[in-house]
Parts: sequence; C-alpha cells; structure tokens
Amino acid sequence: MNRYTRIAGTGSYLPPRRVTNADLAAELAARGLETSDQWIVERTGIRARHFAAPDVTSSDLAVHACRQAMESAGVGPADIDLIIMATSTPDMVFPSAACILQNKLGIAGCPAFDLQAVCSGFVYALTVADSMIRSGVATRALVVGAEVFSRILDFNDRTTCVLFGDGAGAVVLEASDQPGILATDLHADGKHVGILCVPGTVSGGQVLGDPFLKMDGQAVFKLAVGVLEDAARATLAKAGRTDADIDWLIPHQANIRIMQGTAKKLKMPLDKLVVTVDEHGNTSAASIPLALDVAVRSGRIRRGDTLMLEGVGGGFTWGAVLVDY
Ligand code: UT7
Repeated sequence: MNRYTRIAGTGSYLPPRRVTNADLAAELAARGLETSDQWIVERTGIRARHFAAPDVTSSDLAVHACRQAMESAGVGPADIDLIIMATSTPDMVFPSAACILQNKLGIAGCPAFDLQAVCSGFVYALTVADSMIRSGVATRALVVGAEVFSRILDFNDRTTCVLFGDGAGAVVLEASDQPGILATDLHADGKHVGILCVPGTVSGGQVLGDPFLKMDGQAVFKLAVGVLEDAARATLAKAGRTDADIDWLIPHQANIRIMQGTAKKLKMPLDKLVVTVDEHGNTSAASIPLALDVAVRSGRIRRGDTLMLEGVGGGFTWGAVLVDY
C-alpha cells in the first residue's frame, strides 16, 4: 500500500488589534514620516494588518491556530506525533517555539522543532512533515506557521514597516493511502542573504548589530516572480499535472502585484487566486496557512480541489507544494 500525506484539518488565528493603513499613517506622521493608504494599497494591496499585544508570543498565536486545526481534523493532543513550527520570530533564542507550543497544547513526547526559512517556512515545513509521514517516522503532524513580525519592524523605516503583520495558521497532516500532497519543490540561494534579513544577533548579553528587518524591496520583487513560476512548474511536472489542473493558487501573501503576476504566468484566472494580503499584510511563515484556512472556512476550497501553495522569502528561499485537498 502506498503511503501519502493528506491535510486532515486547518486552523488560523489573528491577534485582535487590527491596524488600518490610516492608523499606521497617523502613527508614522507622529514620527515625521509620510505614508498614505493610497500608496500602500496601490503598491502592495494591503489595507490592514493585525499586531499582537506586547506580551503575546508566536507560540501564543500558534496555540489558537493548532487547536482549531485539531478540532477541524477531529483529533486531540494525544493523536499528534510530530510538531513543526515555521517561524522567524520565535519566543526565545532557545528552546524552540515548537517545544513551548507543545507544552501549551498539552502534548508530550513527540518530536517538536522550529523550521527557519522565513516566508518560505510553511512550504518547507510541509515538505519535511510529508517526508517524515511517508517514511513512517510520523503518522499525524501539526504543521504551523506563526509570527510576530511587528517585533522586528523598524517603525522609522516606512519602506518596510507598512508591509508586515502578525498571525498564525496551522494544518493537521496525516498518513493516508490516498494523496494528499502530490509533489514538492524547495530551493535556497544564500548569495542573496543581504536583500532580506534581520542582521542582528544576541552575544555577550547584548544585541549585536541591527535587530530590525531590512529589505531591498525591488530586488526581492524581481526574484520572487521568476522563482515562484519555476517552483510551480517543477511541482506540476513532478506530479504529472498541468497548470490547468490547479483549482486554487495560494501564494505567500506579500504583495498583490507579485501574486497576480504569478497567477498570470500560470494562466490562472484571478478569481482562483486566494488573497488575504489585503486584510493580513505579510505574515511571513503564517501567510499561506492563514490564507488556506480562510478559503476553507469560507467554503471556497472544497475536498478534492487541487491547491498550489507557494512561498518565497529571506535566504533567499522559495518553494511550492501541490496538494489534492
Ligand atoms: O515576504 C518576503 C517577500 N517580500 C516581498 O515580496 C516584497 C517585495 N517587494 C515589494 O513588494 C515592493 O518592492 C515594495 C512594496 C516593498 C515597494 O514597492 P515599489 O513599487 O518597489 O516601490 P519603490 O521601492 O520603488 O519606492 C517607490 C517610491 C520611493 O520614492 P521615490 O524614490 O520614487 O521618490 C519610496 O521612497 O515610494 C517611496 N516609498 C513610500 N512612499 C509612501 C517607499 N515606501 C513608502 C511608503 N509610503 N510606505
């Protein structure tokens, strides 16, 4: 019998504080910086984002998303035998946010680890969990992307602070004799480290270097459109499918122009593109599972639909996962 990985349930969570572009423009104006709802909407498609309260961590957001995913899969903590948390904003330097999350969920004993691939984190984590499930190492996994990017934003840099938000999205994956995940394709190219990074670190009891997010937006933009098409085509080829087989495109939610550009290259009508960037901003590793859960709960994505999930981000990292939902 072939062993595959299927998505058994989805969940998501946004912290309650919703910050509109107008709110942010007023906040920046107080710092002597100019931005506008019009600029942000035209360049990115973002209208609002959610920011977590100062004492709320990524694992706090992840707990809500995971509980919802487990409920929708009809499983409980005792059924989970693997936890992978994709995050670039973990609660502590160590231990992993996944271990903190595991304890909060009342799960003990199963492997739990963080995966760091910035905005590609969720497609990386899905690929790792799929490999572990198909090889028999795990049977039912929680894969969650959770971020508090508001903590690493420089609110004196208008070119980046208007783009990101906080949130969490999760799936329960389980072994199945039917696919499931059809194909995956992951890449990284470390020569582009400098175009999207938080260059600081902790050493000798101090933060060394700059602890805020830096991005060369145009360089990221140019790379993103090309690699997202390549990764999508590679997964389709591996699965023996064509772009006509994709029912829903769920790309990393960074910029509506990149997302629409990718849909166009895959000859997909824009109504098959799942868009949450308008309300969530860029939530890095959380953006894809958040968008997936929103589309599932709204009834747009149904069992049997073929989904193309795509991530791209710091590293430079990128990848895609093709899945029969
Ligand atoms: O999650 C990882 C993946 N990340 C991404 O995919 C992000 C990719 N990059 C982008 O989405 C876009 O490059 C941005 C949205 C970041 C920027 O859009 P852009 O069309 O590339 O704008 P730009 O950087 O060329 O800036 C255009 C102008 C500049 O002014 P000048 O030099 O033309 O006078 C900026 O200073 O817009 C100015 N600007 C702003 N104006 C108002 C930059 N940020 C702002 C702002 N409000 N917040």
